Formats: sequence, C-alpha cells, structure tokens
Amino acid sequence: MMFTTELTGKLKRHETPFYYYDLDLLRETLAVASGEAAKRGFKVHYAVKANFNPVIMKIIAGYGFGADCVSGNEIDLAVNCGFPADETVFAGVGKSDREIETALKLGIKCFNAESAAELEVLNEIAGKAGRRAAVALRINPNVEAHTLKHITTGTDENKFGIRIAELEKVISLLSGLENIDFRGIHFHIGSQITDLHVYRNLCLRVNELWQWFTDRGMEPEDINLGGGLGISYEEPDRFPSFADYFDIFREHLDRKIRSTISFELGRSLTAGCGALISKVLYVKPGTSETFIILDAGMTDLLRPALYHAFHRIENLTSVLPPGKYTVAGPICESTDIFGKFISLPETGRGDLIAIRSAGAYGEVMAMRYNMRSLPPAVFSDDI
Ligand code: LLP
Repeated sequence: MMFTTELTGKLKRHETPFYYYDLDLLRETLAVASGEAAKRGFKVHYAVKANFNPVIMKIIAGYGFGADCVSGNEIDLAVNCGFPADETVFAGVGKSDREIETALKLGIKCFNAESAAELEVLNEIAGKAGRRAAVALRINPNVEAHTLKHITTGTDENKFGIRIAELEKVISLLSGLENIDFRGIHFHIGSQITDLHVYRNLCLRVNELWQWFTDRGMEPEDINLGGGLGISYEEPDRFPSFADYFDIFREHLDRKIRSTISFELGRSLTAGCGALISKVLYVKPGTSETFIILDAGMTDLLRPALYHAFHRIENLTSVLPPGKYTVAGPICESTDIFGKFISLPETGRGDLIAIRSAGAYGEVMAMRYNMRSLPPAVFSDDI
C-alpha cells in the first residue's frame, strides 16, 4: 500500500478515524493466494472472522474461495455475499441450536464439530429438521504454534477441538448417530504463525491421524488444515509467503492421502490491504515520554491493547526530523496505547496517521465502549 501525496490528499477529505482499504492490493493478494493453492490442488476457505465487511467479502467470493464461518450471522452474510453454501464450513465450540438450524437450512458443506456433546445435538436437530448433517471432526492435534499465547488454539490445555485421547470414544458414538455423515477431519493450531516449521509438525500429526481413521474404515474425504499463516507487522508491505506455506504441506503430507486438502486463511488475505487512518488531536509531554493522542483508540483497533500486538505506525503528513513518541488513543483506559517510544517524524496537531496491517481483526473487533461511533470504511475504488 503506497501512501502517495495524492492518496494522502484524498484521505484528508474524510472524517477520521476510518479504515482505508486498498482493494487492488486485496485483489492481487487473492489472485496470488488462490493461484498458489490451485497449483498444488488445494482449496481455500476464507476465514470470515478476519474481516466481514461486505465489500471485502464480495471481492473475496469473486476469486472462488469458500467460506469458513463461526456464527449463524457469518453464514448468512457469506451466502448473501456470493460464497456458495456448499463451500461454506461452520466451526466454533459453542454453536447454538438456532445457528445449527440456519446452517442446515442453507445446506452448508459441513460442520466442524468440536465435541461429543455437539455431535449429539447436531444429530438431534438434523433429525427434527429431516436433514443430514455433514461433519468434520475438529481434532486438537496438540501441536505448539509458537505464536502469541492468546491466539494459540491447538495445544491440549485449551477449549478447542476434540482431544486425540477422546477420539476412540467419539467415533464409536458417531457410528450410532443416524443423521450425521462423517466427511473428514479439521485442525487449526493458532493464528499469526510465522515459524512455518510448526506446520511440518502439524503434517506429521495429520499423517498419523489419516492412517488411524483409514484403518478404522473411515478414510476422510476432506482434510481441513485451518489457517494461521502469519504476516510481517514490522514490514507491512511485505507480501505473505503463500507459496512457501503451501509447499510445506505438499512436502510433508503423506503422498498416499487422497483426501481433498483445504485451508482457512483469514489474516494473510486481508491484513495488508487495510489501515486505520487517524488524526493527531494533541501532542502532550509526559515525564519520560511524549504522548501523541490520536482520535482513534482501542475501540477502533483493539489488537495492541488486547494482545500487546505490534502495528506499524506512520505519519503521512510530516516530513520533519524524527522524534520518539508514545502513541495513545482517547479512551479512558491506560492500555489504550498503539505503540511506545516509537520513532516518527516530528508530529503535531492535525497530522494524519496510518496504523498499518489493520485489514484483519481490525474493523471487525471495533466496539462502542465510551459510546464511541464505530469507524467507517473508505475504499480505494471510491475515492
Ligand atoms: N480457522 C479457525 C478455526 C480459526 O479459529 C481461525 C482464527 C482461522 C481459521 C483463521 O486464522 P488466520 O488465518 O486469520 O490466522 N483476533 C486475533 C486472531 C484470532 C484468530 C482466531 N481464529 C488477532 O487479532 O490476532
């Protein structure tokens, strides 16, 4: 994403804060990701949770992605935005009865079931609706993802998936559930994974589990390997390494596996094309630091306050020599900080600030605390 003087001039005309999306960059990212996947015979479902802005969703649907949803509302929206229902999967540890009914009615591809109790409920609701529920078992593979602790999902001590030790019990339960069709197995070990070796460990576990199911006469039709491909928050213009990512799986998944292989990418598809654009309200001296107070806060972009996540911050309007600043928002919380002691050109009231790599888990996690307005979206195609 290039903030030329021309683009900055156009952005200045909009009331801040807002999310700016470079849709050409999104299209380029989607073309590369879908091309690299197709070359290797893989399928990608877009993880809708990363960004459910309908403009973004429609573009993604246009590139032939399926959808990975975690709520009934996401399923409804995905179908309305052009994702085929039979290319939509539904994950989540707490699917409500109503959400299950919605998904059955729309005829989604499959439920990624996360517990024995959920399988029984799915069977019952499908029976009542006179439908069949296609199911993949989400297995917790106990593979460490080496990412932020708060976004790790595939180790034994967390709430996601069915533990390997429980599998024997779960498949004997499955054989008695007459409204359920077993389709395959699903994994997701965490998000923002930058050490791609982690995926080699996942492949080795998947190979064992494929054999385990096949030996029991349940050869999986589908293997869904989840998402998690990380991006460089330090270098927001660096393109995600889709080819390297998919290569790891091509190389380490057992050749005898005939299942369809799919992925659920979110962040790597949308993060780079979005930036939170904000204006400097005040520059305020502290005892050991100088604060920049923005008109955007943790209510607009929660990741730094919630996970201590790093986002690159750029001053789009100053060309003065650099100084060191702590960049804060206006919210009544001490954690409302976007970056501490960061180097920026000398900054003053009215400067336009871009917080980069905010196209995933940005706008969708915005909230109304302090009775703030939700940040609107501005698209490159419209300005
Ligand atoms: N599949 C499943 C089952 C997931 O739980 C997730 C993300 C994905 C796919 C997509 O993962 P991605 O490719 O985007 O890494 N709010 C956090 C991230 C939470 C991710 C939750 N699950 C953040 O801002 O970093």
